[in-house]
Amino acid sequence: RKPLTLHRLREMHAAGDKIAMLTCYDATFATLLDAAGVDCLLVGDSLGMVLQGHASTVPVTLDEMAYHTRCVARGNQTAWVIGDLPFGSYQASKEQALHSAVTLMQAGAHMVKLEGGGWTTETVRFLVERGIPVCAHLGLTPQSVHALGGYRVQGRNMEGAAQLRQQAGELAEAGAAMLVLELIPSTLAGEVTTALPIPVIGIGAGVDCSGQVLVLHDMLNLTAARLPRFVRNFMAGSASVEDAARRYVAAVKDQSFPDPALHTY
Ligand code: KIV
Ligand code: NA
Repeated sequence: RKPLTLHRLREMHAAGDKIAMLTCYDATFATLLDAAGVDCLLVGDSLGMVLQGHASTVPVTLDEMAYHTRCVARGNQTAWVIGDLPFGSYQASKEQALHSAVTLMQAGAHMVKLEGGGWTTETVRFLVERGIPVCAHLGLTPQSVHALGGYRVQGRNMEGAAQLRQQAGELAEAGAAMLVLELIPSTLAGEVTTALPIPVIGIGAGVDCSGQVLVLHDMLNLTAARLPRFVRNFMAGSASVEDAARRYVAAVKDQSFPDPALHTY
């Protein structure tokens, strides 16, 4: 297949063709997931928990994100690669965010992702004006886990939902080219997806987003900890890891994952 582009991802959103994203942290998995038809590889700072054994994503550094982004970029041929800006690498100033984003782009990311709304809008505009595609991330934002009081569903009350709708609109207006929505009610995620011209990728946000993302090790059932309800084990009934990845892509595309009865709020 041809390398995925932002233009193509936007077309998929407009046409209702679902986008399949997985996290990826190394070259072996990048080659495998790309061959299995995964559209987007997210070098997520979830690697702090999955690979490094930390209790949250807070300890992950920019150097570590750049290292894993380089590994993924070497293994990948056609998928769209997104690099997470880690905690503390974009909050201080727009200039700090630019420097950190440049580091990940030079490591091989096609786009950077940052968490939060409101104050992030001007940072997103600053990066986009300088030629860096940006993915925003609202709802449960794991870098703020200690401020949020745990991994809980966000946007459940009217004020929370209204704030999320407003921040999503502002981020898209500022030039964000993609939005991740994590752990929010599916109706709210569906509304935001319909309202925005950009692809909205959900995790624990229902089937009405433009696409889905899961943490690779969770969907391969490698994670020892108790998993959130929105995860499906794609190794169950699969002959190989590649088969599991292919079944994930197929389930996202035909909208059999996520299942409203099992995986949504
Ligand atoms: O780091 C990560 O894996 C993420 C996804 C859960 C969206 O940000
Ligand atoms: Na992340």
